[in-house]
Amino acid sequence: MKRNPTAFLREEYEKLVEEGLDWRLKVLQSASQPWCIVDGKKVLMLCSNNYLGLCNHPEVKRAAMEAIEKYGVGAGSDRSIAGNLDLHHELERKLAEFKRAPASLVYQTGFMANEGLIPQLVGRGDLIVSDELNHGSIIDGVRLSRADRAIYKHCDLEDLERILNEAEKHDPPYRRILIVTDGVFSMDGDIAPLDKIAELGAEHGAMVYVDDAHGEGVLGEGGRGIVSHFNLSRDEVHVEMGTFSKAYGVIGGHITGSEDLYRFAYNRSRTWLLSASNSPADTAACIAAIEVMEREPQRVQKLWDNTKYFKKAVEELGFNTGKTQTPIIPIIVGENLLAKRFSDELFKRGVFVFPITYPMVPRGTARVRVQMNAEMSREDLDFAIENLEAVGKELGII
Ligand SMILES: Cc1ncc(COP(=O)(O)O)c(C=O)c1O
Repeated sequence: MKRNPTAFLREEYEKLVEEGLDWRLKVLQSASQPWCIVDGKKVLMLCSNNYLGLCNHPEVKRAAMEAIEKYGVGAGSDRSIAGNLDLHHELERKLAEFKRAPASLVYQTGFMANEGLIPQLVGRGDLIVSDELNHGSIIDGVRLSRADRAIYKHCDLEDLERILNEAEKHDPPYRRILIVTDGVFSMDGDIAPLDKIAELGAEHGAMVYVDDAHGEGVLGEGGRGIVSHFNLSRDEVHVEMGTFSKAYGVIGGHITGSEDLYRFAYNRSRTWLLSASNSPADTAACIAAIEVMEREPQRVQKLWDNTKYFKKAVEELGFNTGKTQTPIIPIIVGENLLAKRFSDELFKRGVFVFPITYPMVPRGTARVRVQMNAEMSREDLDFAIENLEAVGKELGII
């Protein structure tokens, strides 16, 4: 019988639907801000990464529009060929200054930074040591590398030390060791013990790489991120990776560290070298977003005020928020279907919060993941809390 080479496409999709694991996306029809239009309905947005409200900031938008006027909509090429704009260099200077570091390199996305750089830092004869809950882009970067891999239990320093001690006995000795961790874990909102990780790294001569996608704009002085939060130097944390797609409100990835790191990454990251450069509008918007963060550190304070108020209220109602320490506040309900129902019922009441289910989180820990926003008012938070309480009681969650 002749084989149908694409039959698996439908079969696999149908299997996903059967298991309730297919993505059913809602459609955003306005700017991402506290009150949005989603699927034609006005709702309070509780699940965007726009922590500081910069997505729709007038100065950030103006910078993007002016860049389009001057440069057009695309840079016309990869940076490595003919698309290397003065704006890209300005953004890199600005970011390095903001991070108080020697150098930053801008990538097209955070995913591309991890995927493009990790496999160049380590290869055959090396070891990568990675937290078990690291983001998928780190996992893919690790998979692309030919280095040996060891996964340590989530934020477990003893387990990390055990692996590093064993690595010392490896014969032949490892050429390089890279420890890689998320800064703030995206599903739970807990913070990696980066100071202790850096200590272990120094003891064992390992490089330390942190993905601070959810720590930027949130942790550290004026939202400078996790390296600032722990007051660490660039000799202790060698790669601070981040993204412009969350607190900065735009899109784009980046790494920050030494001049050596900058030159190495610039010449070796395949995603950077072989893909078109960030658009003029996005790049100018990122510059403006950093300027707003520098000028308005009170946004970070407001984000934390909102976080503390909301977290306390939902915990007092009896919700399980796990081990969050940041504006990512999971409300853990257990089963996949219950998390979906919780999210659906909240949406009917005008609260948009996304369900996170197995396999994104371990079985039995499905949740809705709330992300706080600096632009939410007390009334907005109370509206969210009242509705969480009502639906939580209706569904027997609290
Ligand atoms: C921890 C972490 N790293 C990397 C990324 C990827 O960033 P970007 O959206 O810029 O590709 C994300 C985004 O979801 C993330 O949460």
